[in-house]
Amino acid sequence: MEKVLITGGAGFVGTSLIPQLLQRGYPVRVFDSLMFGGDQILPYFRNPLFEFMRGDVRNENEVRDAVKGCDIIIHLAAIVGYPACRKEPQVAEEVNVRGTRNLAAAVSKDQLVLFGSTGSNYGAVENTCTEETPLNPLSLYGQTKTLAERILVDECSTIAYRFATAFGISPRLRLDLLINDFTYRLLTQGYLVVYEKHFMRTFIHVHDMGRAFVFGVEHADQMRGHIYNIGSDKMNFSKEQICSLINAQVPGYIHYANVGEDMDKRNYTVSYKKINDLGYDTTISVEDGISELAKGLSAISFKNPYSNA
Ligand SMILES: NC(=O)c1ccc[n+]([C@@H]2O[C@H](COP(=O)([O-])OP(=O)(O)OC[C@H]3O[C@@H](n4cnc5c(N)ncnc54)[C@H](O)[C@@H]3O)[C@@H](O)[C@H]2O)c1
Repeated sequence: MEKVLITGGAGFVGTSLIPQLLQRGYPVRVFDSLMFGGDQILPYFRNPLFEFMRGDVRNENEVRDAVKGCDIIIHLAAIVGYPACRKEPQVAEEVNVRGTRNLAAAVSKDQLVLFGSTGSNYGAVENTCTEETPLNPLSLYGQTKTLAERILVDECSTIAYRFATAFGISPRLRLDLLINDFTYRLLTQGYLVVYEKHFMRTFIHVHDMGRAFVFGVEHADQMRGHIYNIGSDKMNFSKEQICSLINAQVPGYIHYANVGEDMDKRNYTVSYKKINDLGYDTTISVEDGISELAKGLSAISFKNPYSNA
C-alpha cells in the first residue's frame, strides 16, 4: 500500500480523514505543529500503521524529513479561514505560501500531492463556477490558498481540490464554519442575526471531504494534474435557505438584518460536474449534518468555542 503523509493532519479535516485511510490499510504519517493541541489524534496511536511527526511547514528541513518514504502527500497544513488569516497576516502568508513552497521543493516528481484548496479562490461570481472560472479571491485566506494551489499545480505532480465550505463534527471540532456556527449560536443564544441572506454558498460534510481524498488516492492516475471542485450540485444554498433548514430542527428567532455586512464576502454557486463524472459524489446532506450538530453541540459545553477564529 502507498504510504500517505498528511500535513496538518491533526486538524478538522485531517482527523476525519485519518481513520478512513487507516481502515483501508494505508500507512499514515501525520505532520503537524499541533496548534490546537493533540488530544484528537490520541486514539490513532493504537494502530501500528499510524505515525506522527511534530513539525512546522515553515521549516524546510522538517518538511524534507516528513516527506521521506511517503508516496502520497495530502497537504492540509494552513492557517484556515479569513478571520484567522486577518488576525495574523504575516503568519498566514508564511504558513500557507512559504510552507507550500517548502513542500514543493521537498517532493520528487514520483510523489503525488493532493492539495486541500478552497472555493474561496473564486470570490463573488455571477455565473456558476467551474474549474475554468477565473480566480478572484476576496480575503487574504483565499489569496494565500490561490497562490499555494498555483505553486503546487505548476511545480509538482498534483491533484488540487477546491472544497465547498465544510460542516459537521470531526474529532477536532470547528465552530467558525457557517453551518456549525449558525447552529451553535441558535442552540446556545436562542437567536441568530444574519446579514446578506441572499448570498449563495456551497457546502460539504467533513466526512465527505475525507472520502474525496481517499477517492483521489484510489483514482490518482486519471486525476493527476487536474483541479476539481469538491462538493455537490445539490448543496448550493442561500444563507436564508440554510437558516430555514437549521430552524426546522433548532427552535429560536432568526433576524435577517438589512443593515450590516458579513466580512466573508463570498457569494457564488459551484458546479461539481467534473468530479461527479469520475464517480465521486457526497453522501451526507445538510439536514443530516444539522441533526448531528444539534445533538452533539447541545450535549457538550465548550470553554472557548471560537478559539481558532
Ligand atoms: N474546513 C473547510 O471548510 C475547508 C474548506 C476548504 C479547504 N480547506 C482546507 O483544508 C485544510 C484543512 O482545514 P481544516 O478545516 O482541517 O483546518 P484546521 O485549522 O482544523 O487544521 C489545520 C491544521 O494545520 C496545522 N498547522 C497550522 N500551521 C501549521 C504549521 N506551520 N506547520 C504544521 N502544521 C500546521 C494545525 O495545527 C491544524 O492541525 C486547509 O488547508 C484548508 O485551507 C478547509
